[in-house]
Amino acid sequence: MQKITSLKECRAAVVALRQQGLTVGFVPTMGALHDGHMALAQQSMRDGHKTIVSIFVNPKQFGVGEDFSRYPRVEDADAVLLEQMGVDFLYLPAVTQMYPDGFATQVRVQGITDYLCGKTRVGHFEGVATVVTKLLNQVQADTAYFGEKDWQQFQVIKRLALDLDISTHIVGVPIVREEDGLALSSRNRYLNATDRAKAPLLYITLCHLADEIVAGGDVAALLKTATHGLTENGFVVDYLELADATTLEPVHNMQKPARLFVAARLGNTRLIDNVGVDIAE
Ligand code: PAF
Repeated sequence: MQKITSLKECRAAVVALRQQGLTVGFVPTMGALHDGHMALAQQSMRDGHKTIVSIFVNPKQFGVGEDFSRYPRVEDADAVLLEQMGVDFLYLPAVTQMYPDGFATQVRVQGITDYLCGKTRVGHFEGVATVVTKLLNQVQADTAYFGEKDWQQFQVIKRLALDLDISTHIVGVPIVREEDGLALSSRNRYLNATDRAKAPLLYITLCHLADEIVAGGDVAALLKTATHGLTENGFVVDYLELADATTLEPVHNMQKPARLFVAARLGNTRLIDNVGVDIAE
């Protein structure tokens, strides 16, 4: 695996691959890699691409009081994992490369970001959209892979790629879960033993809710009861909502496939998860 740190090296690597008639798959990450990230890289390799993984802890997507300073940075361990997996390039851009002096541009995707995490994490999706636009422009991959745990982020990125004529194909990869159902996340490592034991209740709640909604239950009443159940178990619920899978607008009556979304805190750890709810199921 080749480590690259500058945009110049990144572009040269991609040009060299193209000259050999090869295609490029790209997996942007913030590091602290787990099997969810590995699934993205594996998908890229299965799709026959030479694979570039980036690690950049993007300061612009963390709000005031969020975990930017304590976000896990374990670059050496990440590099070992990627190398073992057979990833071709690790791109590690510096903050000065991404945001040089005078940087003054922000990418904002309207609509989708009015809901769910967009309501409570002020500026988060602008930070994500800005850095992902830059990364997609820098790498100019054929395909870029994003985890469906961050479903709203995935929709934001699909929208910006479409709107800004970015030709990289944006692909979502299903959530990877622990055996007890907890969605893999770099933030899971913040959980103490007690909270880790409680955390799978988020996914269990979503699955029960989905079944009850499909069975024709009253959506608002079910959401209220489920929120109460999580709160009783020590979660501070940010939101628990049924929403359109593409626009993220709230869905009150199930008429077409939608998704259930949850964000909740256990101690200082904010967890998110989502499941599809399909009336045709
Ligand atoms: O999902 C992430 O890890 C980040 O939000 C991303 C897409 C790498 C942008 O910083």
